[in-house]
Amino acid sequence: FALEQGQEFDADGETGMANVAALKDRAAQAALAHVEDGMRLGIGTGSTAEAFIRALGEKVAGGLRVTGVATSERTAALCASLSIPIVTLEDMPALDLTIDGADEIDPALRLIKGGGGALLREKIVAAASERMIVIADATKQVETLGAFPLPIEINGFGMMSTYLAIRKAAAGLGLSGDIVLRKAGEGPAITDSGHLILDASFGRIPDSEALSAALHAVPGVVEHGLFLGLATFAVIASDEGVTVLQR
Ligand code: 5RP
Repeated sequence: FALEQGQEFDADGETGMANVAALKDRAAQAALAHVEDGMRLGIGTGSTAEAFIRALGEKVAGGLRVTGVATSERTAALCASLSIPIVTLEDMPALDLTIDGADEIDPALRLIKGGGGALLREKIVAAASERMIVIADATKQVETLGAFPLPIEINGFGMMSTYLAIRKAAAGLGLSGDIVLRKAGEGPAITDSGHLILDASFGRIPDSEALSAALHAVPGVVEHGLFLGLATFAVIASDEGVTVLQR
């Protein structure tokens, strides 16, 4: 049963390529130019977001005033260690700008996110923001979403039924492929909100909007990693420099 096979999860999504880390830094630095004094910021999760947070920490130490909402406990801890002020989304429910990474970006700025397991909070924070800037190295750019397995956050109750319903919903759109429970060590990975994650290898997703609606209709699905209509623009770093992708 595919759900029981599981897969080891590389929490940082690192490829081990030194130049990719440098590209993440470059994208992070370019995004920093959009952060203004006094802004209410959504702060993303993942290695690219962490490059941004470190750069932001330096600016804050130099006197920039921002107030952040973290998209994960991991991000909150890093921000705290760098003295970046963090409040909850309840304290500050409307944000000016969110800056976050992505696992895949298509030409229409549709995203797959959730490789770092923070998709639920990332989506809530992005949706609460006036603008979202995606920061990424050029390896994240794709023509069509789907080479990266789609993370789907589910409630633990009835997970087998939810899994079967997801399969059925996907099949209705002509999509199939392995759907595996994300593991962390010996056990399942548990999100900051106490849920589980399924990683669905559907392959090429020709209609992300239809898949998004179909997944949202499945009871037990808390959220999925398709971010549609949320990104304002993307800052993409490659060996050639930084380009801005706009919708
Ligand atoms: C976390 C995410 C990350 O933004 C995404 O996985 C990209 O991570 P990285 O910058 O490490 O490649 O969605 O849930």
